[in-house]
Amino acid sequence: MLRKPGYRLALFATLLATVVVLLGAYTRLTHAGLGCPDWPGCYGFLGVPMSEHKQALAEARFPDAPVEVAKGWYEMIHRYFAGTLGLVILALAVQALRRRDEPGQPLKLPLLLLGLVILQAAFGMWTVTLKLWPQVVTAHLLGGFATLALLFLLTLRLSGAFPALPALSTRLRALAGVALALVIGQIALGGWVSSNYAAVACVDLPTCHGEWWPAMDFANGFHLTQHIGPNYLGGQLDSDARTAIHMSHRLGALLVTLVLLVLAWRLHAAGLGRLAALLVLALAAQVGLGISNVLLHLPLPVAVAHNGGGAALLLALVLVNYRLRSMRAGASAAREPAGPAGTVGSRAEGWASPSAPARFAGFPQARE
Ligand code: HEM
Repeated sequence: MLRKPGYRLALFATLLATVVVLLGAYTRLTHAGLGCPDWPGCYGFLGVPMSEHKQALAEARFPDAPVEVAKGWYEMIHRYFAGTLGLVILALAVQALRRRDEPGQPLKLPLLLLGLVILQAAFGMWTVTLKLWPQVVTAHLLGGFATLALLFLLTLRLSGAFPALPALSTRLRALAGVALALVIGQIALGGWVSSNYAAVACVDLPTCHGEWWPAMDFANGFHLTQHIGPNYLGGQLDSDARTAIHMSHRLGALLVTLVLLVLAWRLHAAGLGRLAALLVLALAAQVGLGISNVLLHLPLPVAVAHNGGGAALLLALVLVNYRLRSMRAGASAAREPAGPAGTVGSRAEGWASPSAPARFAGFPQARE
């Protein structure tokens, strides 16, 4: 395993991004998104105003937003961690620029991450100034997941941990790509459920309001350009629109489950049993947490864990796609004669099961 410079920092950034995503969920789910009515400070201070004098000043500055200390801290702690993550990503980008002439050092990815984290800061600001407008809240959530996924990809690329495997079916790669796109779509739908306060629009399961197909208003539930103000805390849509959003997330989960199970089965058949198991495990946990969210009426730890489960599922799919792409890169090498340990003959390692090479020989790639 040949780690490239920057690996440790990228790994640290990935872990930090996970914390930031979870803190973001905690802030949203405790309705603390407006815990500080301004940005980047809190009532004009660096921290939450604690003394009587500061609180009097804060309420004079923002008469419509009385100070709630706990909510203010949830919001500010999320901002402190996110700010630190921004600095770490800046360091990764500077390092990548300095080492741009070294072979195999990613440059575009760290620069893309820097752009993304700047955009995320802007979405964080608009989340507050546009008073939790669902479009912005969902975009902010998606940006957070994208930052995490790309940092994980960077860590994988710098780790040198997974040498290329022999070529596999192109259909399997396409299926993994579709699965990734579907999970991203499902995360977006989840963000839309959360930001429109539609989690408890249906409290029974698998039916909703006792019906398989309840009254739903998709036009208003998904009216993406709609601007309802002035403050979106608690949601503004009527029951049928929220039901449409909630049911769409359930139907999305069904589709995601189906496609991911087919993908896991095909990975298993290709000798990548451990990757398949990881995928099934992440999927089962996420579906279990989603169902618990509904049946237990959204307890905070379950709701935060469901957000973390979405992130875990996304990272599992990034790993699957990365592995299958590194197989494609290894395709030409696979045609070369097998060399000593570590070359083609012993490539199926890491997340591939030990008996993988034998099974690759008979796998459909021969037919495709
Ligand atoms: C199959 C994959 C699934 C993925 C990737 C996924 C992803 C997500 C995400 C990212 C959120 C936003 C969480 C947040 O704002 O913090 C969410 C919310 C939610 N999901 Fe899922 N979900 C899945 C399955 C399910 C299932 C099967 C159910 C239940 C039938 C479910 C029920 C919910 C509910 C009720 C919410 C709203 C929670 C809130 O207000 O924060 N999800 N989902």
